[in-house]
Amino acid sequence: MAFANTEQAEFWSQIAPMWIELQDRMEETGGLPGRLAMDRLDLRAGQRVVDLGCGAGRTTLELASRVLPGGEAVGVDISAEMLAAGRERAAQLGAGNVEFAHADVQVSDLGQARFDAAYSRFGVMFFADPVAAFANVRRALRPGAVLSFVCWQGLFDNEWMLIPAAAVSSTARVRSGSASENGPGSPGPGIGGIEPVTVATAAAGISIHSLSKRPCQQTKDSTAPGRRARRTLANAATGSAKNITPKRE
Ligand SMILES: C[S@@+](CC[C@H](N)C(=O)[O-])C[C@H]1O[C@@H](n2cnc3c(N)ncnc32)[C@H](O)[C@@H]1O
Repeated sequence: MAFANTEQAEFWSQIAPMWIELQDRMEETGGLPGRLAMDRLDLRAGQRVVDLGCGAGRTTLELASRVLPGGEAVGVDISAEMLAAGRERAAQLGAGNVEFAHADVQVSDLGQARFDAAYSRFGVMFFADPVAAFANVRRALRPGAVLSFVCWQGLFDNEWMLIPAAAVSSTARVRSGSASENGPGSPGPGIGGIEPVTVATAAAGISIHSLSKRPCQQTKDSTAPGRRARRTLANAATGSAKNITPKRE
């Protein structure tokens, strides 16, 4: 079946080499929240679990180890390059209960009532049609199955991303509205963060039992640079920064 999110597929395939190279450093930011979400699944031996937007498969391998003996983990990703890295690592580790599938979570057939659990670490924020995507995930889950994921909040709630974005927008020409579009790669891309994701899961018939909207430390104690960055990007989004020209050194 053709993919619906072709722009995302191109984007992630392009950045895959960099992503794979920086995996260890990415673990420093994504590792802990990812583990907390995974623990919530309370996986048991023999279960089948799907990893949505699995990237280079680190979490898929961890899921696979948690369902031994007898269980299996399937990592699904739209980027063939990311999956190739996952397959290589699985082979190195001799993990026999892992499969990697090149698929678009939104439209590809993930199976019918195939999984006991679904998981994602920052892989459910990129769908052009999030309700269709979560409805597709739901079809692949057996009744009573659990979905647990971790997802960024919107750009304005993530100072680690907001401050660099504002710095760039204040020195380079800014397209009107670009700060609010949340293009590929920004926190909460495409559908703007955790709120739309949870709305979409509910609309797709997945009940939400618990939601922790824990802000990152800098957001909680908003810093002066963070407040300035918010103003800069808010201006850019409303068009008042439309004509900023690149600064000359
Ligand atoms: C931020 S990365 C996270 C990767 C991985 N979960 C991790 O924690 O390292 C997002 C991943 O979602 C994948 N992705 C984006 N849209 C997708 C879609 N519609 N279907 C499947 N995978 C998708 C990307 O290719 C990328 O690997």
